[in-house]
Amino acid sequence: MKRSVIDITDLTKEEIDRLTDTANDIINDPEKYAHICAGKKLATLFFEPSTRTRMSFEAAMYELGGAVLSMTDAASSSASKGESVSDTAKVISCYADIIAMRHPKEGAAYVASNAASVPVINAGDGGHCHPTQTLADLLTIKREKGGFSGLTVGLCGDLKFGRTVHSLIQALSRYDDIRLVLISPEELRLPDYVYNDVILKNRMKCTQTTDLLWALPKLDVLYMTRVQRERFFNEEDYLRLKDSYILTPEKLFLAKRDMIVMHPLPRVNEISVAIDDDPRACYFEQVKNGKYMRMALILKLLRENGAITY
Ligand code: NCD
Repeated sequence: MKRSVIDITDLTKEEIDRLTDTANDIINDPEKYAHICAGKKLATLFFEPSTRTRMSFEAAMYELGGAVLSMTDAASSSASKGESVSDTAKVISCYADIIAMRHPKEGAAYVASNAASVPVINAGDGGHCHPTQTLADLLTIKREKGGFSGLTVGLCGDLKFGRTVHSLIQALSRYDDIRLVLISPEELRLPDYVYNDVILKNRMKCTQTTDLLWALPKLDVLYMTRVQRERFFNEEDYLRLKDSYILTPEKLFLAKRDMIVMHPLPRVNEISVAIDDDPRACYFEQVKNGKYMRMALILKLLRENGAITY
């Protein structure tokens, strides 16, 4: 049975635990996994600019011994001739065993998954969600903090358009005893659909503030995000809001000594480069973890679809 991952809730909490186990096993013994996907192909369909997520998927497939078909430039693809997402997904299913897709429109990956005959992984659909970034985030938190219970997690920046934040909140809502601190300018607060349907519905402990300095000493995890310029309707608002929060060594002085700093990247200037060498900075580790979680997910979906056995 073909299985796609569009939303992080397409995976149960137990499945995510098993994916993190697999990722940890890959980290410890990469050779064991180096040929499992020999003869299999991953297609990366990216209708929106991306470097790290696309390359992360591609590196993941190569490290599993598989091959990659890549569509990097929507302008030179059939989409520019007017082909629908459904048709593209049907066509690519004839070449590839699995598809990773990024698209500027919310819901596009879902549409593709209904048309494709192979698994589709949502690599980001507009301002909606980004489940594989969340898998990277969860592995990072688990490896750095040992688990999720009892943590106070601060999410800072563009909570309105930041799809990684939406997916991460959804994932964290399934763990007990997590406290969220949402830090954003008024205009970039978390959308109501996430606040009501996820935070309120799951009775999560949650505080909203505009004040990063107030929040910092309370946090175990600080998840910084960039202001999502490409989703703004006018440049003026972007320019006014883009530097709302800049984490500097002076501010970090207020934080717990074992707080971790995360960021899905790309960073614009939300985190001063002077923080990169601080032992609390985890964002480059997060990049590596993303590749391992994507490897684990590709393995799982190909195995469930009968394309590989291991
Ligand atoms: C994020 C995204 O694409 O949503 N980046 C990523 O996947 N590495 C965050 C962002 O673009 O700000």
